[in-house]
Amino acid sequence: MIYFDNSATTKISPSALETYQKVSEQFFGNPSSLHQLGEHSSRLLHQSRLQIAQLLGVTDEEIYFTSGGTEGDNWAIKGTALEKKPYGNHIITSSVEHPAVRESMEQLEQFGWEVTYLPVNEKGEVSADDVKKAVRPETVLVSIMAVNNEVGSIQPIEEIGEVLREYPSVHFHVDAVQAVGKVPLKLGKDSRIDMAVFSGHKFHAPRGTGFMYIKRGRRLAPLITGGGQESSQRSGTENVPAIAAMAKSFRMTMEPIQTNANKMMEIRSYLMNSLKEKKKVTVFSPEKGAPHIVCFGIKDIRGEVVVHALEDKGIYVSTTSACSSRSQVEASSLIAMNVPKQVAQTAVRVSLSPDNTLEEAEEFMTVFNNVYEQFTYIN
Ligand SMILES: Cc1ncc(COP(=O)(O)O)c(C=O)c1O
Repeated sequence: MIYFDNSATTKISPSALETYQKVSEQFFGNPSSLHQLGEHSSRLLHQSRLQIAQLLGVTDEEIYFTSGGTEGDNWAIKGTALEKKPYGNHIITSSVEHPAVRESMEQLEQFGWEVTYLPVNEKGEVSADDVKKAVRPETVLVSIMAVNNEVGSIQPIEEIGEVLREYPSVHFHVDAVQAVGKVPLKLGKDSRIDMAVFSGHKFHAPRGTGFMYIKRGRRLAPLITGGGQESSQRSGTENVPAIAAMAKSFRMTMEPIQTNANKMMEIRSYLMNSLKEKKKVTVFSPEKGAPHIVCFGIKDIRGEVVVHALEDKGIYVSTTSACSSRSQVEASSLIAMNVPKQVAQTAVRVSLSPDNTLEEAEEFMTVFNNVYEQFTYIN
């Protein structure tokens, strides 16, 4: 089996699984409980938070545990909207965001917020200049992803941050779900980013884990209220075993980030170059994209047909994002990049993790060549 669908989810790492099991058995107390078992869990929670914060160069009070990317995006956007309602009703985002962002925006529009969806160029990139032009006195939030999940475009987050230095009261939210371990993101007091969202299952941690960075001093309303956990910002009994496993996976992802990114980049370049040699293949991913995503299509062959043909040979890939693939919706990022609908329907996404090898990529190309011959023979 070759697993090339790591942007949809990754396989949990053996060490994360081991941590999960060990902590479940040994630290099962509720961290809010007053007795010793609670105290042990609470300490472990603190250590996990500290470890994540240190790896990001921020403080532990700036890290909030969540259930993943969707929750984080919803919280950053709706939490800002609720908190800043008295100051303005305008939000800026891009036209290539994940549905967790896009649909949060659409929901807010139903309640009277105005949303500007910035266009992207043919590489799927937003322009910092467009952000500047879109800011109004009533703008309360700018939400731009770091790395696009469908084609792997890298957004100019630092440049946008520079633009937003002129507007210090505007919240700057970055969906960093696809950037983790692949593209560095500067957080902390010298960065203009106010909120960044992370999801554990994209870096070999258990499902249902994630965290959000919220810069000290930035306020947003909690969406999940109750027992007051996470400094009363996100209630609910903490999933300590999964959080400890996530902290471990995060360390194993962040420490070798450059080595891993170089390795994935080598595999990606090989795949991009090999695919580009095929007359009837269009590669949609930009040359200078994230190291783990290659999006392409075979002329006139729907993406899902290619996905199933590869699956028959033990190779697992996706049609664009995992969320839209079942609903057979063409990649919305490609539509925003001005790719015609019929061409966008051919999209197939290969997504890598540091566990993948060049040998797997070579095997992939051998299988793909057969699939390609089969589909293009008659045309
Ligand atoms: C860019 C991006 N944002 C958000 C999410 C949602 O994350 P989760 O699956 O943890 O809810 C994903 C998942 O694919 C993603 O790729």
